[in-house]
Amino acid sequence: MAPLLSVDDLRVTFDTDRGIVRALDGVSFEVNRGETVCLVGESGSGKTVACESLTRLVPTPPARLSGTVTFDGHDLSSAENGTLSSIRGDRIAYVFQNPQDALDPVYTVGSQLVEAIRLHRDVPKKRARRRAVELLDRVGIPNPAERFDEYPHEFSGGMKQRVVIAMALACDPDLLVADEPTTALDVTTQSGILHLLQTLQAERDMAVLFVTHDLGVVAQIADRVVVLYAGKVMERGNVFDIFDRPAHPYTGALLDSVPRRGATPEPIGGSLPDPTDPPAGCRFHPRCPHATDDCRTGDQPPVHAVDGSDHDVSCVYYDDDHDASELAEADGLAADDDESTPRTEPTAPRGDER
Ligand SMILES: Nc1ncnc2c1ncn2[C@@H]1O[C@H](COP(=O)(O)OP(=O)(O)O)[C@@H](O)[C@H]1O
Ligand SMILES: [Mg+2]
Repeated sequence: MAPLLSVDDLRVTFDTDRGIVRALDGVSFEVNRGETVCLVGESGSGKTVACESLTRLVPTPPARLSGTVTFDGHDLSSAENGTLSSIRGDRIAYVFQNPQDALDPVYTVGSQLVEAIRLHRDVPKKRARRRAVELLDRVGIPNPAERFDEYPHEFSGGMKQRVVIAMALACDPDLLVADEPTTALDVTTQSGILHLLQTLQAERDMAVLFVTHDLGVVAQIADRVVVLYAGKVMERGNVFDIFDRPAHPYTGALLDSVPRRGATPEPIGGSLPDPTDPPAGCRFHPRCPHATDDCRTGDQPPVHAVDGSDHDVSCVYYDDDHDASELAEADGLAADDDESTPRTEPTAPRGDER
């Protein structure tokens, strides 16, 4: 079956006073129906721009977009703004980091939810109200009928995010794009929201594109993972390959930078390159302990399959002229020619159940 969402060679630049910011530079990935794909990478790697570009939420100008976004057979990249806004909120819904940005302080949460329902569905007010209360109940708001008439400021951060999720679910989207939806919340609240998203996804068979910089969250919810770095895809694969047999040194470094059982976290040295002047060769080479001259010239290495499965990496060690086992030996990374032993616990770094 064709993927629900295909992103092919997506490029986004911003014209700024500092020069042209290359936020995304040829990014490709897919999301299948009903699966959770996590987009991971350090802050500034292009995760938010990728999400917003899907339905052209990024302002053009200053942004310039190229590449193809196909959603359920529709070419969104060439779609009219009217088509995009009818898809947005109906078939593709968004949840962002700060719930207060999605809620209007001057209207009750109930009226905003009714509005979200009636924006895409021609239902009478009374029925929309009933559905809104059901949704509030479904996302875990206690006493939903009473809380319907309260204002956003009367809700805690976690409860506000639950309301935003209810609004996102109002039209039963096929794809939920969640951009760091729990980053602004405390750890306990975060875990409740993640649990809710997992439950809702399973009962609705909804696909989720989940953005996070937190690998603990990835281990808990992802089916597949796309690792972004400075506007380029470094690695893509299922969650087990990414955690147990990471192929790109950047993925390895990301995994080593979080607390995990039996290992002291090692922060990644250095920082992201200047997006107006990215380095030649592999974008990660200035921070990569394995970089050779081959990594410092030309373009980002093409994406290669690590093995037969859908595990891909953009690293010169995996091209036809190199031997990935050298890298694997040096850093315990996955080689493409053997069954390497997992170097990490296949469980979540922060021990939550999947
Ligand atoms: N409106 C904008 N104008 C200029 N640069 C932008 C704009 N939005 C994002 N960027 C740049 O694009 C890059 C990717 O940003 P973003 O997608 O927000 O990263 P992430 O979500 O991974 O932290 C960053 O270098 C950021 O500064
Ligand atoms: Mg972001």
